[in-house]
Amino acid sequence: MKIALTGKGGVGKTTLAALLAQRYAAQGMRVYAIDADPDANLASMLGVPDPEAIVPMVEMKALIKERVGATSQDLGTYFSLNPRVDDIPERYGLRLGNLRLLVLGHVPRARGGCACPENVFLRELVSHALTLHDEVVILDMEAGVEHLGRGTAAGVDWMLIVVEPSRQSLETAGRIRRLAGDLGVPRIAAVGNKIASPEDRAVLEQALPGLPFLAWLPHDPELRAQSLRGRGLEASAGVAEVIANIMEKLQG
Ligand SMILES: Nc1ncnc2c1ncn2[C@@H]1O[C@H](COP(=O)(O)OP(=O)(O)O)[C@@H](O)[C@H]1O
Ligand SMILES: [Mg+2]
Repeated sequence: MKIALTGKGGVGKTTLAALLAQRYAAQGMRVYAIDADPDANLASMLGVPDPEAIVPMVEMKALIKERVGATSQDLGTYFSLNPRVDDIPERYGLRLGNLRLLVLGHVPRARGGCACPENVFLRELVSHALTLHDEVVILDMEAGVEHLGRGTAAGVDWMLIVVEPSRQSLETAGRIRRLAGDLGVPRIAAVGNKIASPEDRAVLEQALPGLPFLAWLPHDPELRAQSLRGRGLEASAGVAEVIANIMEKLQG
C-alpha cells in the first residue's frame, strides 16, 4: 500500500500520516513513513524524542556525492541520473519498531526543471520506495500541488487529499485534484478533518462533488494537545475507529 497525503498547510496531513503509519506498524506491517515536506514535522508527530537532531537526506552531501557523483556544489560535473538507493531506506531510515522514518528535507528546486543531484537522489529514493512490494509507504507531502512529480504521482496507489472546513483548504483540494488527475494518480479520495458539525461535512461534500470522502475525522482538541506536547499521537477510540475504517477502504 502506497499512500500520499496532500492538502493545504495545517489541514492535518502529518497528523493523518502519523496515525496511519502507527496503525499499520502496530498491525505488524513494515512501514516507511516519508516526510517529503521541507517544513518537516512527521518525526515529532511520531514522538521521536529529538526531531531537530535528525539530519534530512538532502543534507547528507557525502552520501549524495557517493551515489550520484556530485552535489549541487559541483557545477558542471557529470552525474548519474539513476543512482543506487535500494539500501537507503533500511540503512538511513530512523527506526521506530516496524516503522522507518525518512526525512527528505528541503530540496533545491531550480527553475526550468534542472535536475540537480540532490533532486535526482531524492526522486530516485521516493520512486524506489514506491516500488517496494511488502512495505506500506506513507508520503507526507508538502502543502500545495506544485511539487507533485509525475513519477511520484503514478507510483502511489492512493492520493488522499485532506480537507478541513475552510474555503482555502477546499480551493487547494480542487487544484490538487485536477493536477493529480492530469498526472495519472490511480485513485484519489478526500478525508474530511476537524469536522465539528454535520454542516461542516455537508459544506465539504458540496464543494467537491464527485470526489469520494473516505472518512470524516472529528475536530479533536486532544489530538491537537498531543501534537503540541510532541510525544507522539495516541488515538482515542473514536479516532482509531476512523483510521481503521480508512485502512479498510484503501484495501478494498
Ligand atoms: N482532527 C483534528 N482535531 C483537532 N486538531 C487537529 C486535528 N487534526 C489536526 N489537528 C491539528 O492541526 C494542526 C495542523 O495539523 P498537521 O497535521 O500538522 O497539518 P499539516 O501537516 O497538513 O500541515 C496541528 O496542531 C494538529 O494537532
Ligand atoms: Mg505537515
